[in-house]
Amino acid sequence: MSSWALEVRNLRKVYENGREALKGINLTIPIGDFFGLLGPNGAGKSTLISILVSLTRKTEGKVRIFGVDIDEDFPLARKKIGIVPQEFNFNIFEKVLQIVANQAGYYGLSYRQAKERAEYVLQELQLYEKRHEQARVLSGGMKRRLMIARALVHDPAFLILDEPTAGVDLELRRQLWHYLEKLNAQGKTILLTTHYLEEAESLCRHIAIIRDGEVVACKDKKSLLAMLDTTTLVLELERPLKRQISLPGVSVNQIDAETIELTFPSRVPMSKIMKLLERKQISFCSVKNKTNRLEELFLMLTQKEESHG
Ligand SMILES: Nc1ncnc2c1ncn2[C@@H]1O[C@H](COP(=O)(O)OP(=O)(O)OP(=O)(O)O)[C@@H](O)[C@H]1O
Ligand SMILES: [Mg+2]
Repeated sequence: MSSWALEVRNLRKVYENGREALKGINLTIPIGDFFGLLGPNGAGKSTLISILVSLTRKTEGKVRIFGVDIDEDFPLARKKIGIVPQEFNFNIFEKVLQIVANQAGYYGLSYRQAKERAEYVLQELQLYEKRHEQARVLSGGMKRRLMIARALVHDPAFLILDEPTAGVDLELRRQLWHYLEKLNAQGKTILLTTHYLEEAESLCRHIAIIRDGEVVACKDKKSLLAMLDTTTLVLELERPLKRQISLPGVSVNQIDAETIELTFPSRVPMSKIMKLLERKQISFCSVKNKTNRLEELFLMLTQKEESHG
C-alpha cells in the first residue's frame, strides 16, 4: 500500500502545437495531505490536473494515484479522484440534482443510491433548495459549489480543485475554506491550485510552486515561509535613474524613475546592501521596509531570472 495519494514522476506534456507545458515534473502528495499548487498563468497547473483524470494525455512520465498506475488501471485510479475543473463544464439546462446524480451513475451507483448521495452532497454545499432548478439560474458562486458537489458524489478519497475560489466572494470563499478543511479533517486528501496566496497559506500543509512547466519549489508550508524570509526595501532615490540597475543577489524592481524596490534574503546584512548601492553610486533620501510574505516569494520564484552582477 502506497503512502502517497499522488506520485508524479518525470511528467512531460508537449501539446500538438509544440508547446511544452510540463517539462518533467516530479511531485508526491502524502495521503491525507492538503496540498497547494501555485504558479502564474500558463505555468501548467491545469495541464497537470487534466492528465491525472485523463482529460489530457501525457507525453511521458508516470502517474500513480494511491499506488495505482493510471496506465495500468485508469478506472480504479479515477474512482479515487473527485475533480473540480477550472471551467464550468456541466450542461446549464440540466437540473442541479440531475447533474450531480448523473455523475454518481458513472461510478456505478444505482439510480436510488445516486439520488440519495446527490441530495446529501447538495445539502452539504447548501444547494439543496436549488436542486430542481436548471443550473443556468445559479449564481457564479453556486455554480462553483455545484461543481464541488458533483466531484464529491462518489465519495472520493482524493479531491482535486482547480482554482475553486476564482470569482467567489470573500464570505463564500471563507465558507468553502471551512468546508475543505472539514473534508480534509475527515481524511480526504486535497490538492488545489489557486492564485490566492493567502488561500494556500491558510489551508495547505505542503505547497509546490510551478513556473513554465517546472517545479521551482516544493516544501511544507513552514519551510516555504522560512525561505520567504526576505526583506524588501523601498528606496526613494535622490536622483532619477538613467538606466536599469542590477545588484548581485538582489532582485531590483524599478517602480518609477525615482523609486526602486530591493528584495533580498533577510540573512544578508544591511551593510552589504548599502555597500552595493554605494558602489553603483546610488544615493537615496528615504528607505522603507515593505512587509512581504508568500506573495514576495511567489514573485521571486516565478519571475524570469534577471542577470545579476
Ligand atoms: N490544448 C492546448 N493546446 C496547446 N497549448 C495548450 C493547451 N492547453 C494549454 N496549453 C498551454 O500550456 C501551457 C500551460 O497551460 P495551463 O492551462 O496548464 O496553465 P495554468 O497554470 O493552469 O494557467 P492558469 O493559471 O491561467 O489557469 C500554457 O502555455 C498554455 O497556453
Ligand atoms: Mg489553469
